[in-house]
Amino acid sequence: KKYLLHWASLFLAVMQNKGRGTFISFEGIDGSGKSTQIELIKKYLLKNKKKVLFTREPGGTFEAELIRKLILSKNKKINLDNKTEILLLLAARHEHYKKLIEPAIRNGTIIICDRFIDSTLAYQCAGNNELKKFYFQISKLLINKFEPDLTILLDISPIKALERINERKNKNKYDNKNLSFFSNVRKGYNELAKNNSRIQKLNALNDKNILAEKIRKLIINLLK
Ligand code: TYD
Repeated sequence: KKYLLHWASLFLAVMQNKGRGTFISFEGIDGSGKSTQIELIKKYLLKNKKKVLFTREPGGTFEAELIRKLILSKNKKINLDNKTEILLLLAARHEHYKKLIEPAIRNGTIIICDRFIDSTLAYQCAGNNELKKFYFQISKLLINKFEPDLTILLDISPIKALERINERKNKNKYDNKNLSFFSNVRKGYNELAKNNSRIQKLNALNDKNILAEKIRKLIINLLK
């Protein structure tokens, strides 16, 4: 009886994994060209008629987008404690994961997510072990060990990134932070890339179409 149960659960696990979707995140400091590359891969995947979902963090659902408004608000009166900010990001992630990501993965969707866990680690926790520990403790309760199958990290120096941002109109509150803040975020990303094989770091200064081709190849390879 015990054996039967064992094989039955193994069979179930294999079957569940078979129809399982794929989760791909895009990361990079502001001004890395992330949005442009997501647009290009979107065109490609939609043209190839894949079952694909495009979403972002913080946000992705109605409730999570409300939390996003609060987190990214430019209102000078809002001054969140570091841990409060992490809790809000995780609250938004919980909504997003439970209501959108998890069901989509279960029904075999390819999900392209503009930012995910690595953003929180790089933006909120880089260089701060106490915050990192805090993040992991809470995150585990919400999404357990869930992580992307592939993460595209667009790497760029903060100086070049700021040059790009200054050409833009809509800036959010992070865009106004200084170079040392972005250097620290970049360092955080690079450390994550070193320790996680799911993260593919690409040079964001490459020509936009060459970069798009590289990203396409990585994704096609993963979907094979
Ligand atoms: P971004 O995704 O670049 O969108 P847009 O270019 O449309 O403004 O901006 C979202 C901001 O949120 C970005 O500055 C990084 C920040 N962020 C964090 O600080 N931590 C997180 O965990 C996430 C998901 C985002």
